[in-house]
Amino acid sequence: MKFTQLAGTLVALALVTGAQAQQPASQPIVIKFSHVVTEDTPKGKGALKFKELAESRTNGRVKIEIYPNSQLYKDREELEALQLGAVQMLAPSVSKFGPLGVRQFEVYDLPYEFPNQRVLDSVIDGPVGKGLFKLLEPKGIVGLAYWSNGFKEFSSNKPMKKLDDFKGMKIRIQSSKVLEGEIKALGAIPQVMAFSEVYTALQQGVVDGEENSISNKYTQKMHEVQKYMTLSDHGVIMYAVIVNKKFWEGLPADIRDTLARAMDDASKYERSIAQKENDDALEKIRAAKTTEIYVLPASEKAVWRKAMLPLYQQYEDVVGKDNLQAIEKIVAESSKQ
Ligand code: LMR
Repeated sequence: MKFTQLAGTLVALALVTGAQAQQPASQPIVIKFSHVVTEDTPKGKGALKFKELAESRTNGRVKIEIYPNSQLYKDREELEALQLGAVQMLAPSVSKFGPLGVRQFEVYDLPYEFPNQRVLDSVIDGPVGKGLFKLLEPKGIVGLAYWSNGFKEFSSNKPMKKLDDFKGMKIRIQSSKVLEGEIKALGAIPQVMAFSEVYTALQQGVVDGEENSISNKYTQKMHEVQKYMTLSDHGVIMYAVIVNKKFWEGLPADIRDTLARAMDDASKYERSIAQKENDDALEKIRAAKTTEIYVLPASEKAVWRKAMLPLYQQYEDVVGKDNLQAIEKIVAESSKQ
């Protein structure tokens, strides 16, 4: 569909959406929640938990319609659809906010930045996390919560045991400048691609490999088209649950409060299951015997880390020096504990 037609349709929908927040009591307020992963993932289960809590706690005054697996929109389109009010809620990876004009979220994409989930949680639940949400408001978006999907691992159809192995390899990434720099620093060639296109691109050799959480690799069956996986834990997959600002602020106050609490509880749930979902996925890939799994030794991890260290200075202006310094301070303090 041409963009003008899409815009026309979406604007018409936006008018409907605006009115929707003030539905007569007989009609439930409908929240369309679109995302790009399967339901059998931390994010998929988090969305279902939110639906369960939101619908029961509002006694049916709100109806959550979940559209998983890019059913409605792919990565980039879903952000446009949210801004235009065609959908009311998303939970995209924070690595995909660049096209919205808020590349500061790519501060989370810097490699080997977070020693563990606990440190990451203290960053996202603190001033850095909240400050970044503020940047979304001028874009007509409100940030409600951060969700997690654990650490990223590399997979490919060629072994990745040494830095040299990356030379000339084509690696799929999300639409992040920092990730582009990361892949180039490893000596490989970055290729931005929508999540829903990755499986076929790996199968057809359009790209050799990709980086992701193990849960995403398993639930998208990527292990069936990837001969090698290296457990490098070199970055994180993190989500921001976001809503259309006009819709959110147009809700009756009691409904908005109830939904905010439901989101808090769904977020605690999502973050509590993320690690186990990834551990279980690793066991399922092992059992499938499709992919050779290699644990990156600390000595080689140090080599990769050193190769990527210049990114911190290189992208300082993109991600915000203040954000970087605040995170480095939290990481330093955590290492004293
Ligand atoms: C990706 O594009 O690899 C991920 O962000 C997909 C997701 O939402 O977990």
